Amino acid sequence: STHKLWGGRFEKQPEHWVDEFGASIFFDQLMAAEDLEGSLAHVKMLKHTKILPANEADQIIAGLQTLQEKLAANELEFTVENEDIHMNLEALLTKEIGPVAGKLHTARSRNDQVATDLHLYLKKRLKTVITCITELQSALLAKAELHQETLMPGYTHLQHAQPISYGHYLMAYWQMLKRDRERFCFNLKHTDISPLGAAALAGTTFPIDREYSANELDFSELYANSLDAVSDRDFALEFLSNASILMVHLSRFCEELILWCSYEFGYIELSDQYSTGSSIMPQKKNPDMAELIRGKSGRIFGDLMGLLTVLKGLPLAYNKDMQEDKEGVFDAVKTIIPCLKICTGMVETLTVKDDKMAHALDNDFSNATELADYLAKQGIPFRKAHEIAGKLVLTGIKEHQNLQDMPLESLQQAEPTIKDDVYAALSPKNAVLRRNSYGATGFEQVKQQIAQAKQIMANY
Ligand code: ARG
Repeated sequence: STHKLWGGRFEKQPEHWVDEFGASIFFDQLMAAEDLEGSLAHVKMLKHTKILPANEADQIIAGLQTLQEKLAANELEFTVENEDIHMNLEALLTKEIGPVAGKLHTARSRNDQVATDLHLYLKKRLKTVITCITELQSALLAKAELHQETLMPGYTHLQHAQPISYGHYLMAYWQMLKRDRERFCFNLKHTDISPLGAAALAGTTFPIDREYSANELDFSELYANSLDAVSDRDFALEFLSNASILMVHLSRFCEELILWCSYEFGYIELSDQYSTGSSIMPQKKNPDMAELIRGKSGRIFGDLMGLLTVLKGLPLAYNKDMQEDKEGVFDAVKTIIPCLKICTGMVETLTVKDDKMAHALDNDFSNATELADYLAKQGIPFRKAHEIAGKLVLTGIKEHQNLQDMPLESLQQAEPTIKDDVYAALSPKNAVLRRNSYGATGFEQVKQQIAQAKQIMANY
């Protein structure tokens, strides 16, 4: 037999590079704290159920606590020969307390152990992600409140469409984040389930108490099926798909920050703190952080595709393929948290150039819908009104004149029922102000939306 933990039925050792290929210790050591927590809960359960005598369980508990201290002090050394975090920690425990360490694995398998670790790992990080989303929502809400009445062009097809409130624009992202947050909260529910005690795949003949260990680990529920418990990675898939949707939102937001701070738009300026210069062009101020967030969405989508593909053809229960579940999850965790924090910082510190936004509205035809609506309200069928307004826009383009600058006589030539009050209808401010349908960009509606958002956040 070989010196491996499972070496009993083996006569030959793999070569080092083969061990290296199979090992996960390079990355799963990120779950060392969770592995020790899981082991502590398991051995406390073994003691409670008298599967292990109290004095032996206590030795193991003390040993695990020593390892916790050493981990915190960065004093643990892991080896490739011990393959993964589970066997590394068991080997280290044996060094601490001797052969009694071998009793820890009674009524347990690495299969329920690794699943437990990943659940614990993600549960903790999900809470951080949710907090970071909340902080970005707060930043957006505060900025939106300041800019409820700041006008900007609203776009479709990246062409001026209709004037909107900048606060309304910001609140659109708040709403997306509200859904993202809900998705991660739901994800937390599916992560808060204990696989511990499922053992290798079929449960165990020992009189274990799964409730007890789950309680120790603060899990709300137990997996009701041992095969499912060790095979389920839905909670990780959910995390990666939620993270992907989140990154779609952040990426779209960042794309607009990048556009808005370009010379051609000039609607905002990002703080120096979130911008970089050029090594050759002295005048440059680049929105690097926003670009990088836009770019990092790619790796998150990759993480999701990677795990979907790993899992799709796997027979139940554990297969070594599942070792590939972790790196994508770790990568997504360490990517989305700083992305959220940087977005929060950028929102909090950006300068709004309301004069530039307003100027963009004084020199466009984004009030053409106002003219069509004005005519429709006089009883002209909307299709006809649309055509009259369109013709006036065409004249305006040819004669370099905006609708609001055309003399009343020219307007009346196109449609005799037009009166002096048309100019009020054509002002961008009134165009926004008068949009008072539920959820619209009108100031009153934006104010209500913000009030409602505050109420929702008060319950977070
Ligand atoms: N390192 C393994 C993983 O990450 C732990 C579980 C191994 N279980 C097994 N039966 N080989 O998935």
